[in-house]
Amino acid sequence: MQNYILIIGACGQIGTELTYALREKYGADQVIASDIREGNKDLMESGPFEILDATDYDALEEVVAYYEINEVYLMAAMLSATAEKFPERAWSLNMNSLFNVLNLGKEKKITKIFWPSSIAVFGANTPKNNTPQSAIMEPSTVYGISKQSGERWCEYNHRKYGVDVRSLRYPGLISWKTMPGGGTTDYAVEIYHKALSDGRYTCFLKEDTALPMMFMDDAIRATMELMDSEGKNIKIRSSYNLSAMSFTPAEIANSIRKRLPEFQMTCQPDFRQNIADTWPSSIDDSKAKSDWGWKAEFDLDATTETMLKNLK
Ligand code: SER
Repeated sequence: MQNYILIIGACGQIGTELTYALREKYGADQVIASDIREGNKDLMESGPFEILDATDYDALEEVVAYYEINEVYLMAAMLSATAEKFPERAWSLNMNSLFNVLNLGKEKKITKIFWPSSIAVFGANTPKNNTPQSAIMEPSTVYGISKQSGERWCEYNHRKYGVDVRSLRYPGLISWKTMPGGGTTDYAVEIYHKALSDGRYTCFLKEDTALPMMFMDDAIRATMELMDSEGKNIKIRSSYNLSAMSFTPAEIANSIRKRLPEFQMTCQPDFRQNIADTWPSSIDDSKAKSDWGWKAEFDLDATTETMLKNLK
């Protein structure tokens, strides 16, 4: 059987790079990109593209049937900071799209699902350092609540209906090809753009706020390795802790200064500081390492090097 893949939210920060990577691996025609609106022209022209609202089950089912899709990556979501402004819209998008995709799995219309979770599932009472896979969660944001509930639904659908759904708790993701939108970790991308264009950056978090972060190449590789693993190795069907590095705004600024000595950063924390304060500083991903062999490659300096080189 041919493996036809659908990416939902293909124009977003992760979706864009995932689409390129999967097209590279399987061939452009096997990978159908979709989003609620048109995006990056390159991406739309590099293979099949569909306008699709993932909260519309009938429309989703039609695309799945038309292209004989058997694998879905659901990357559409409203991120933490934006979701605080539109709580009910965020809940409806984040949950209904997941229900629709899980139902396709339950009805055996597709055979494999990837759905991203986040470090936002954790909360103020979670151990902050080296946060274990299983810990008190109590997320405080709408986004975090939707991800935690989503994790429970993934595990439930796997246990009860045998749905092959796989998930990672992504940390903040840093890439040069696409911008993030509406997240609390976005500063770690903006800072590189501003360092090159203005030589200075005003950060919306305090300089000593440490958060778990990852370079996009690592995140895409983790996603593909998880999806390629044999089912019996995937012992966690809620979502895996995943980690690469952890740093503060002061540390990323220092890393930039090693290459751009004049760079200056000031901090003016806004409402996103309150969100960051409830999230872990660093993550224990030993289960991902032992179950399916995960290993990160990019640390902070390698990330800075690659970001500055490519953004120039
Ligand atoms: N990067 C996301 C955010 O900041 C967390 O998953 O919302």
